[in-house]
This record gives sequence, C-alpha cells and structure tokens, in this order.
Amino acid sequence: MKGVVLAGGLGTRLSPLTRVTNKHLLPVYDKPMIFYPIQTLVNAGISEIMVVTGGGNAGDFLRLLGNGKDFGLKHLNYTYQEGEGGIADALRLTEFWADQGSVCVVLGDNIIQGNIRGAVEAFQAQGGGARILLKEVPDPQRFGVPVFDSAGNITAVVEKPKDPGSKYAVTGIYLYDARVYDIIRTLKPSERGELEITDVNNAYLNSGDLRYDILEGWWTDAGTFESLLRASRLVAETGANQL
Ligand code: G1P
Repeated sequence: MKGVVLAGGLGTRLSPLTRVTNKHLLPVYDKPMIFYPIQTLVNAGISEIMVVTGGGNAGDFLRLLGNGKDFGLKHLNYTYQEGEGGIADALRLTEFWADQGSVCVVLGDNIIQGNIRGAVEAFQAQGGGARILLKEVPDPQRFGVPVFDSAGNITAVVEKPKDPGSKYAVTGIYLYDARVYDIIRTLKPSERGELEITDVNNAYLNSGDLRYDILEGWWTDAGTFESLLRASRLVAETGANQL
C-alpha cells in the first residue's frame, strides 16, 4: 500500500503565521509539522509516499524533506495542487501514482501519539472499501463526526455539525481502495467551495464499504492556534509516533 500526505491549503486559520509559509512547515515542538504524518506512514510499514502540496512554498518541502533520509526512506514523491480545491481535490492528484492500488491518506496537520499499524492490517484484511480512524474529542463540532446506530454501526458522517451526533471526530487518517478516485469524480463542492473528504466517506458508507477503528493514544490536528499549541505541548510531554 502507498501513503499520501496532504500538505496544501492556505492555512488561513493560522494567519499571519501562514502569510509567508505553508502551515505544514510550521514547528510543532522540535520538528516541522509535516514530519509527524510522514513518520506515521513510515511506522505503519509504508515506504512509498507522495506529498501533495501547493502554493508559493512548494519548493521548501523539497529542501526540507529531500529524498526522505530523516525517515530512513530512499525516495519521496511530490505533486502540486493548483488552487484551493480541498482535501478530496488534493487526493485526486495522486490517482496516476496510486496506479489502481490502495492508499493510506494522512492530513499534513494530523499528529498521533501511537501508530496505525493495526488499522492498516485490518484494512488489508477487509478486502477493499474504506476504513477511517475515530477519536473521542471534547469539541466534535470542529470535525467530521460519525453518527452510530444502537449496534455501533456508522449511519452517517456529518462535517462540522452544530449539534454533533456523537463525541467522536473522524481523524484525518483514511484508508481507501482505488475506487476513491471514481468517487472523487462524482463530488460537488461544498458550501466552503471544497471537495469534502466527508462526502467520500459517506459514498463508501452508502455502498456498505466503510469500516472504522478507534485510535489509541492521543490525536490532534494543528490547524488552529489552540490546536497548534496543544500539539506542541503533547509532543513535548509524551512524544509522538511511538512504535
Ligand atoms: C478536515 C476534515 C474533517 C476532519 C479533520 C481532521 O477538516 O474535513 O472531516 O475531521 O480534517 O483533522 P479541516 O481541517 O479541513 O477543517
């Protein structure tokens, strides 16, 4: 399985920190933000990785990451997102490279304490479809939120609901088979003008092909001032990407 790190976007919620650089190059404790999602993939045994970036600082990713030596990799792949189409639009750019295979997608601002090896193995055993990772959070309205039936099956995923149907967030770690690219082609932009990854997850749900795991250890995004600070604190206190 191949891995994709999505590191485009304007990072407007972190302005002015992101006025002259990309969000994913900002520090989280002692490393640039993008180091963490790459390490998450490497620790899951994924060594073929593509970074999707965009904007005026794309060249800085090459200077920072090179061929991935910091992660024990021999090579890293890069692609460039024109404009601001959202997460699913960025993922679309990896279709040629995924080459009909499955992908593990990690948002460039998602940092975890532990590892996702178990979920990757479970996805490989489930034989296609999609698998998402959930985490209980105090502020689900900031995220994609799953709604469950009484048997614990997901019945819907709702993006940033005012009235969340559960205490869980859909983390920015997704496992998809190659059908994801066909699904993306059917999407329409949301109210914020983006192709939403939540719509991708609902498409898999509607065809009965969405499974989930609950992530162990802490999880945080780092796309707001509060979450960026929390990410640095968590990494400093307990470390990230523990095997
Ligand atoms: C995105 C997704 C959301 C998910 C979150 C995880 O939100 O749209 O479903 O829960 O990442 O970090 P965004 O950061 O683009 O607002």
